[in-house]
Amino acid sequence: MQYTAHADRYEKMKYNRCGKSGVLLPAISLGLWQNFGSVDIFEKGRDIIRRAFDRGITHFDLANNYGPLPGSAEENFGRVLQSDFPGYLRDELIISTKAGYLMWPGPYGEWGSRKYLMASLDQSLQRMHLEYVDIFYSHRPDPLTPLEETMMALDTAVRQGKALYVGISNYQADEAGKAIDILKKLGTPCLIHQPKYSMFERWVENGLLDVLEKNGVGCIPFSPLAQGLLTDRYLKGIPADSRAAKPHGFLKPGEITAGKLEQIKKLNEIAGRRNQSLAQMALTWLLKDRRITSVLIGASSVAQLDNNIDALNHPEFAADELKEIENVLREK
Ligand SMILES: NC(=O)c1ccc[n+]([C@@H]2O[C@H](COP(=O)([O-])OP(=O)(O)OC[C@H]3O[C@@H](n4cnc5c(N)ncnc54)[C@H](OP(=O)(O)O)[C@@H]3O)[C@@H](O)[C@H]2O)c1
Repeated sequence: MQYTAHADRYEKMKYNRCGKSGVLLPAISLGLWQNFGSVDIFEKGRDIIRRAFDRGITHFDLANNYGPLPGSAEENFGRVLQSDFPGYLRDELIISTKAGYLMWPGPYGEWGSRKYLMASLDQSLQRMHLEYVDIFYSHRPDPLTPLEETMMALDTAVRQGKALYVGISNYQADEAGKAIDILKKLGTPCLIHQPKYSMFERWVENGLLDVLEKNGVGCIPFSPLAQGLLTDRYLKGIPADSRAAKPHGFLKPGEITAGKLEQIKKLNEIAGRRNQSLAQMALTWLLKDRRITSVLIGASSVAQLDNNIDALNHPEFAADELKEIENVLREK
């Protein structure tokens, strides 16, 4: 069916400035790591992307290897762009991609060399039928390649007009600080850092967020729902259509321990008292920190996406609620 974007799509979404840049990102962004690959139903993914845009999500996050199969999420996203997003809508989208993890065989198909990053970006642009991406990321630090080389490749991508901004992902606080400094000297400031951050994964609180704030770099946490653990998905076992049940899913059933489930149940009760779903509470909890530009969610249905966006309608936390959550998170 022909898609026409909702005329009122910008009325309810909240947009936050990304660090000290000129870019505003929606408080909730959509990632295409899972559920949009060649193993998934194309029309389902297409409906989620359309709905996201209709509700003001302007930022879509990809990477060369998203699928499975690797590359197929970019191909599918490119198909949706071609069929549903006429050219003029390109200027309303912030599309990101990354290179860093294994993409093709041989010594030039992963990590952080200029050789790999430049070739990978060209491949991503082809798969998505794009002339440029808005953000190009180094997906992970490479301990064996000089940081200067990786950052210079990002800078070159911008100078060639293939990316408008650059970002880093999975860099620890000290290496992030060094990367940010190099990029500053090259004249291509680091726009954003994409770390794993949720109620269950809090390493960024030990230094990284301070480094980003000090340097005016934005922060977009990935897996803010801990891949679905911080939702009601697993409260009554492992549903057949869930990530933990899929052979290619990155959430392994063994991660859903009795102790974790106990915590999830308690968090779910607190969320219930706030008239929120647990997913909504987990997102509100991240967004309470002004250093967080946007939360990068995944969704396997339009209903999940809607539920997550509705997190923005809920009030902030009272001090005693935060304390109660903290007590649950400290339980081991
Ligand atoms: N930079 C990196 O290294 C890196 C790594 C990982 C991810 N990312 C980025 O972050 C994005 C999000 O990651 P993620 O998919 O792990 O995020 P997530 O938001 O933590 O998990 C998404 C999953 O949670 C479940 N879910 C979502 N909303 C729900 C709701 N309202 N109620 C119940 N269940 C719900 C769904 O699981 P089911 O599928 O079981 O329904 C969904 O697939 C990725 O797409 C990617 O763009 C980046």
